[in-house]
Amino acid sequence: MLWIKNAHLLDPVNRISGRGSLLVRGGRIVKVVVGEELTAAAVLALLGCSDLAEVSVVDGAGKYLFPGLIDAHVHLREPGQEEKEEIKSGARAAARGGFTSILAMANTRPVIDTRALVEYVRLQGERAGKARVYPVAAVTKGLAGQELTEMVDLKAGGAVAFSDDGKGIQSAEVMRLALEYAKLTGCPVISHCEDENLAGAGVIRKGETSARLGLRGIPASAESVMVARDALLAKETGGRLHLAHISTKESVRVIRAAKEAGIDLTAEVNPHHLIFADEDVPLTGTSYKVNPPLPSREDQAALLEGLLDGTIDLLATDHAPHTWEEKAKPFAEAPFGINGLETALAAVWQELVAKGKLKPERLIELWAVNPARRFGLPGGTLAEGALADLVLFDPEWREVVTAETRESKSHNTPFLGKELQGFPVMVWVGGKLVVKDRKVLP
Ligand code: NCD
Ligand code: ZN
Repeated sequence: MLWIKNAHLLDPVNRISGRGSLLVRGGRIVKVVVGEELTAAAVLALLGCSDLAEVSVVDGAGKYLFPGLIDAHVHLREPGQEEKEEIKSGARAAARGGFTSILAMANTRPVIDTRALVEYVRLQGERAGKARVYPVAAVTKGLAGQELTEMVDLKAGGAVAFSDDGKGIQSAEVMRLALEYAKLTGCPVISHCEDENLAGAGVIRKGETSARLGLRGIPASAESVMVARDALLAKETGGRLHLAHISTKESVRVIRAAKEAGIDLTAEVNPHHLIFADEDVPLTGTSYKVNPPLPSREDQAALLEGLLDGTIDLLATDHAPHTWEEKAKPFAEAPFGINGLETALAAVWQELVAKGKLKPERLIELWAVNPARRFGLPGGTLAEGALADLVLFDPEWREVVTAETRESKSHNTPFLGKELQGFPVMVWVGGKLVVKDRKVLP
């Protein structure tokens, strides 16, 4: 049993915001009391227990207590590339970063396109016993973009969504069929919008910076034309569409119009696209190399506007671990991807929330409430009876990001060696303490 007291409780859905107490029993939230101090006797009565020695008491003074964050875009690399990340290391990194649930993408080796592999990811996640791991299964076999997977079977194995993320589905007909067929499962199709003809061999956003650095550019249209295509296909089929890592102003405009037209689509933005722009990319800075590439400042402003006005529904890390050996290659050859789980919340807090650009309540909506709703997951709430997936967040905690203190097996982040402020200090999954004083428990 657990009594967290004196923390600032935050839950936009249940309109909870204020100093109070939260009680946990049997892995679930049993009581939330705001604006009133509970006596030990009252706590014992509410928990149905006679001895305070059986209750862990946590003083959350000066800290926020919010629902565990849910990250809808994570690459765990197992099976096949365990040197970059494993399900266990990723689930630990997630917990350390404030995430109690993550969606694991299917672009592993082999690709997660059979029920046995979906079950493998799910079971490895359960074994790790840290953040809950929900498998995303491939849309097409081998991510080849041609033949659909057995979606109904994959869902039965535990898949919560379908995606060929890492690759855009080039054939409009395959995407149309995917949206149609996925309706049988009720699961969204997550689209990585990238037209390969337009993207070509580009490695950075096409514009002044790509010209200055002498690097091949990816035009913004490589993303936006596919956003428009998929929105129209979602309309025609009535399928559920989720757009991964949106990074251009034209995409935001199309999504806004699609929502006005009543199309069933949601969209996510990644913290790195909100914090860094193409002009910030150093020539040797392969830790800034990511797909879609870092946007222009103008695009970035449109992304933030979309987050605030409801056009964009989710924040997600797109945690994409890669080894030093690969990221040490020249910019044009290094793989795309930024390692995000352990720095994303702190970075968004420091750069957006602390600077007054994003309210803490909206952050919780974007990173806990909306992902739970879209993917039909438990969590994202402090409601009585809900799972006790909780984060105690210290807005004052400052920490230098170092390879030694991290749980991820890779360290490809632009924040390495830099200090960030605002971190989760304690994390519970189903009432079980998994992070204490910033350290993930064994
Ligand atoms: C991702 C990866 O490395 O798997 N890389 C990236 O730059 N985002 C793939 C993806 O999310 O598209
Ligand atoms: Zn992607």
